[in-house]
Amino acid sequence: MVTVSMKVNGKNYSGEVEPRTLLVHFIRDNLKLKGTHIGCDTAHCGACTILWNGEPVKSCQILAVQAEGADLTTVEGLELEDGKYSIEQESFREHSAMQCGYCTPGFLMMTRYLIRNNPEMTRDEIREQLHGNYCMCTGYQQIVDAVQDAQRKFIKSRK
Ligand code: FES
Ligand code: FES
Repeated sequence: MVTVSMKVNGKNYSGEVEPRTLLVHFIRDNLKLKGTHIGCDTAHCGACTILWNGEPVKSCQILAVQAEGADLTTVEGLELEDGKYSIEQESFREHSAMQCGYCTPGFLMMTRYLIRNNPEMTRDEIREQLHGNYCMCTGYQQIVDAVQDAQRKFIKSRK
């Protein structure tokens, strides 16, 4: 077993893992943060997307030991301190951008990254940026609507 330590959603965590443990399993099983989903385990679906030092990564493709010292954000970290929804969550709720919700954590994490890095993307650019996230339910229309709305809300929040 190997000891691994990292910051997740602003809190410091450490735990014992087998060297082969995937980061997504460490997050879900050791930290009990079940919002990060596993849809494929093969880097295709994006359900396991988290932010690693602010950049989106697929946590099923990383070993927990590789995250030693990293600063991670999972979907649980989006909620505001007063329990209110974040911009991303509110936009997805308002636009009904989910059905079963299995893919939603990954899309929310991508939205957090996209609106903070380029809040003026076109619909086509948003679709391109989301090419690594699959949704089997919604047809993507509402998801892109929600990301555009999150962009608008984010820009407004900075004024
Ligand atoms: S579970 Fe990681 S990309 Fe699908
Ligand atoms: S809402 Fe069901 S997979 Fe996206």
